[in-house]
Amino acid sequence: MKRHIVPSALSASFAWLARDVNLIQKAGAKSVQIDVMDGHFVPNITVGPVVVESLRKQSTIFLDVHLMIENPLQFIGPFAKAGSDLLTVHWEACQDALAAIHEIKKLGVQAGMAIRPKTKADVLVPLLKDLDYALIMTVEPGFGGQAFMPEMLEKVRFLRQKIDEGRFRCELQVDGGINRQTAPLASEAGATSLVAGSAVFGAPDPAQAFKDLQKLVQ
Ligand code: DX5
Repeated sequence: MKRHIVPSALSASFAWLARDVNLIQKAGAKSVQIDVMDGHFVPNITVGPVVVESLRKQSTIFLDVHLMIENPLQFIGPFAKAGSDLLTVHWEACQDALAAIHEIKKLGVQAGMAIRPKTKADVLVPLLKDLDYALIMTVEPGFGGQAFMPEMLEKVRFLRQKIDEGRFRCELQVDGGINRQTAPLASEAGATSLVAGSAVFGAPDPAQAFKDLQKLVQ
């Protein structure tokens, strides 16, 4: 099973975003996660479609856009038009999760559904057949540099089993506190996509940090 480390741009330099993203792409990263926060769904504010649009012009990397926002359906159009390759919305922010997935796919973009630590993994089971990515937050969303929540590994094992049983092609992604110690735990539990912000861009040499982490989960 191929596993990928996905650097999160939240810990990159927003003054030199394209430089940092191209640096980790050269190091072998297949995608980068852009964390979108609206100050309502999470107590932090980051970027909008205009930043994705600018980055798209400067980089060919797969843009994994994580919408930590209220009313995500209002914004999937602009983020898709800006050049996102994957749009992940939060189950807690959707009235109808299945409808949200179909709306995203109608835009020709891959669809992901994320759950916060307090949300049970069961809610994603009926969506797995339609999802490209299921994202288990391993920290409370909103900030980089937080400690990994090991109790989330149970959800990873549970969804791994459901994905394998159903032979679904849905990627199982984890996000938050992924580093040299926790990446092996998450991949052993069944994660195939591991988002790492501070462990990559917070390192003195992000390219080497990415390569070292990727080697740990091969
Ligand atoms: C948190 C973001 C994560 C964060 C991960 O709300 O969704 O992607 O950037 O950062 P680290 O890897 O530093 O926990």
